[in-house]
Amino acid sequence: MFKPTNLLIIDDEPAIVKVFEKLAKDEGWTFASASSGTQAIDMLNKSAFEAAVVDIALPGFTGMQILEYVKQNQISTEMLIMTGVGSVETAVQAIKLGAYDYFTKPFDDINKISNAIAKAMERHRLLQKLKQMERMEGDSSSYEGIIGKSRKMQEVFELIESVAPTNSTVLVLGESGTGKELVAQALHKRSRRAGKPFIVINCAAVPETLLESELFGHRRGSFTGAIQDKKGLFEEADGGTIFMDEVGDIPPAIQVKLLRVLQEGEVRMIGDNSSKNVDVRIIAATNRDLTQLVGENKFREDLYYRLNVISITVPPLRERSDDIPLLTYYFLQKNAKKSGKEIATCSVDAITALQHYKWVGNVRELENVVERACVLVNGPVIQARDLPQRVLGESFYLTKEDGHSDFSKFSYHEAKEKAFMTFNRSYLSSLMRSSKGNISFAAAKAGMDRSNFKKILKKCSLNAEEFKKSK
Ligand SMILES: Nc1ncnc2c1ncn2[C@@H]1O[C@H](COP(=O)(O)OP(=O)(O)OP(=O)(O)O)[C@@H](O)[C@H]1O
Ligand SMILES: [Mg+2]
Repeated sequence: MFKPTNLLIIDDEPAIVKVFEKLAKDEGWTFASASSGTQAIDMLNKSAFEAAVVDIALPGFTGMQILEYVKQNQISTEMLIMTGVGSVETAVQAIKLGAYDYFTKPFDDINKISNAIAKAMERHRLLQKLKQMERMEGDSSSYEGIIGKSRKMQEVFELIESVAPTNSTVLVLGESGTGKELVAQALHKRSRRAGKPFIVINCAAVPETLLESELFGHRRGSFTGAIQDKKGLFEEADGGTIFMDEVGDIPPAIQVKLLRVLQEGEVRMIGDNSSKNVDVRIIAATNRDLTQLVGENKFREDLYYRLNVISITVPPLRERSDDIPLLTYYFLQKNAKKSGKEIATCSVDAITALQHYKWVGNVRELENVVERACVLVNGPVIQARDLPQRVLGESFYLTKEDGHSDFSKFSYHEAKEKAFMTFNRSYLSSLMRSSKGNISFAAAKAGMDRSNFKKILKKCSLNAEEFKKSK
């Protein structure tokens, strides 16, 4: 995979370049340098850098000109400016032009500089990730507001696309929370009826005594309380689509009337002698097994066949875990906008935990979990600890070998501490190994703040040097 160089130093003073070269080595950053403005522009054009530290006074282009060039040409490198003492105005101007930070020479605190550079790199990575997500949004990973790039969802999209323009009745099947209502909306939006009403009725939520009047309307005086004529939803939906959710819950008496609408295209208000023609497309949904209801004589067989001309089954979320990262980012952005917090992404272990959970409540449950995490999160990255325990699972903090450890001789508190420490050591070691001892990289992978990461390393008595040597 392509990886940008971490740091570029642009300065004509060899002593300064040396300082940064040593810093980069200590931090495990990849490093390059340019000694003139012209050389720097050439390098910025030809290769990619996460962050660049540029001196204001340079032969060729000045530091400020390089900064302007970078911004105008939308080069993604984060720029940090070095000025001589007393040139605060230049620094302020540089920030206005879009520099990430600035420091003055001579350096009084190299740690501060190193932290600023690490933060600039982190920002670069987050922005790149967001751009990648934006690019993905434009492609086939979303269809009429339904997110999904898994093969199974692509098949659902293809089916909607071919069925939508017809007038056919559609039965949408799938577990609760899989997105059946979104599928019904998409069918309407992609049909010739799109400019006409889309009316939703949840048949399970309306009491039996009201359902008939809701659907078909009533005449004034037709029953106690019917003080005036009222149009039914079928009439309201004329020319458009009616979405009947939980259709399996319709009582038998109303099933007969629904059958008449389907067969004759007619509705009759309660208390009326004549019928009216309506042109309404019916989309029905249920998470119950209709064939079983038919077998138990709770659902009319003829109605079942009328509704089930074409069926679309929305797969459960656990069968399309490819879609989980995408859905998570989608809900993250939605919530971040709502809460005004700046939440950019999710740590690798948070995503891993989300992908392994069984999601009985499907996308609706995932949406709730992400919303909760957005409230709990501290900083721009959702961490595993922001997820509910049921999602993390009992085995999350235990590596395979530790899973077999005998904890029975410890108190609960001791056992938890021990498991947590073992987990920390094993997790950090594997991260540091795969990052070849580069603390910044490892922290970024963990979705952690660099200084916090360093603290935990120390607590676990792990030494970054050890991992630099490892292959
Ligand atoms: N693929 C998806 N992309 C984006 N949001 C989704 C997706 N699937 C479901 N959602 C969201 O999840 C929630 C539940 O979806 P929806 O109401 O369509 O599910 P349902 O299958 O009708 O559930 P139920 O059977 O409980 O009525 C909604 O907030 C919906 O916007
Ligand atoms: Mg629904």
